[in-house]
Parts: sequence; structure tokens; C-alpha cells
Amino acid sequence: MHDAMSSSLTQTDEERRILPRHVAFIMDGNGRWAQQRGLPRIAGHRAGVESLRKTIGHALKLKLEYLTLFSFSSENWSRPASEVDAIMGLLRRFVRSDLAELNAKNVRIKIIGSRDNLPADILNYLIEAENTTEANTGMTLIVAFNYGARDEICRATQTIAHKVANGELSPDEIDEALLGSELDTAGLPDPDLLIRTSGESRLSNFLLWQSAYTEFVFLDVFWPDFAEGDFDQALEHFAKRDRRYGNVCSTQSVV
Ligand code: FPP
Repeated sequence: MHDAMSSSLTQTDEERRILPRHVAFIMDGNGRWAQQRGLPRIAGHRAGVESLRKTIGHALKLKLEYLTLFSFSSENWSRPASEVDAIMGLLRRFVRSDLAELNAKNVRIKIIGSRDNLPADILNYLIEAENTTEANTGMTLIVAFNYGARDEICRATQTIAHKVANGELSPDEIDEALLGSELDTAGLPDPDLLIRTSGESRLSNFLLWQSAYTEFVFLDVFWPDFAEGDFDQALEHFAKRDRRYGNVCSTQSVV
């Protein structure tokens, strides 16, 4: 049985008008949070996992449909081995301790990113998280792991090129919808809002294709300190923005 409180995605008309369907996060600033306290970087990542739990809880309360978390980039492998190992350890522990509860809350987990060259047990944890929750109908939690947007676009392009080479596809059939359908995010809506913590204002190779019309909110708070109030503040910014998708403002006269 699912927890009715957190599984329902039935928003009121007002919630639907002002809330984004899909919020993506760049959870940045764990290292600096730890440094400020004279702690090792891994203490920042550990605190980051707590922040991640609270953020998922708040997203469920708000009945968001999609939540994406940038948890490990394809570039993060270049960090010191001890830090990489520690982050892998946190991921293992997170799946072991939180998967059952997320499943009980009707959360569907999707993993995006390259599955090549991942440690075998990590790959198994990711597959287990997806398989356990694939029939769920509540919020979709998209975890970007070993993810880089340029790598994702290259992999999609290679798949398309193979299809052209073996005669399955004509080059004229390649359009935005086709390319989108070969990305890791195929079938998922683009993020409406992207929040990056830690005061940095860049995308860092995250969802480059999918964020063409995304609203960005950059917050001057380290990820471990990111709280429900910050989430609400970003949602308030979003609610005030006028998304025109290349069109003109709907309330402004043209001549
Ligand atoms: C950015 O802070 C954070 C990361 C690169 C890793 C985030 C990982 C977690 C929150 C835990 C693992 C994930 C799961 C799904 C359990 P930073 O280290 O770049 O901070 P800095 O810019 O201050 O150095």
C-alpha cells in the first residue's frame, strides 16, 4: 500500500498554475560548506545527502511531478579517489536505507547518465532502484549519475548515426523530437525550473538540450544548508516569471 499523503499528484488548479511540473537541482557547495567548518569534504557530502532527503520530502509535499538531482557528473571522476569512493559509499547507503521508503511513497526512480565503466555494484544499485519503482505512479525522481550533457548528446548522436548507416533511418528524418527520443531523458518533460545552490551561476554540462526554455534560479546558499524556505523562495521567483518560449508577452499589445 502506498502512503496516500505523499503519493497523490492531484494538484489544485491554483497549484497547477503557479507550480512547475519539473524542478532540477545542481546540488553545489558541499565541499565549501565542510571547509567553512574545518571538516573533511566528505562531511559536506554526508550533510548534502540529508539536504537531498529533505528536498525530496518537500517536493512530495508540494506534489511536484518530476524532480531531477545532479548527483555525480562524468567529470567528478577526476576528484581525489578518496572523495570519489566516499561519494560511492553514500550512494550505496542511500539506496540501502531509502529505496524502500521511496517505493512506499509511490516514487518512480529514473537514472540518467552513462552506464559505461561504472563499478558493477553501483550499476546494480541503480538498476535495482529503477526496477523496484518502475510501476509507481507518483513523483518521478530522476537521478543524474555519471552524467554529462555533452556525453549524453554524443551517445544519442551515435545511436542515430548507426540507424542511418544501417538504413533504418534517413538523415531527413532527424529532427528535435527524434534527437530528444534518443537522449537519456526520452519521455520525460524538460525541467521548468533549475535551481543551483552555492552562488555559482553556470550549468556545468547539466541538461544542456533539455534546459532550452528552463527558468534558472541561482541561490547563494551551500547545498547542505538548502532548506524548505529556500525551495519555496525559488518557487516564488518561478511563479512571477513570464515564460514566452520565443513569443511575445500575452498581455502586451503588438501595435
Ligand atoms: C557538489 O558539491 C556535490 C557533489 C559533486 C556531489 C553531490 C553528492 C551527494 C549530495 C551525495 C551522493 C548522491 C546520492 C544520490 C546519495 P562540491 O563538492 O562540488 O562542493 P564545492 O563546489 O563547494 O567543492
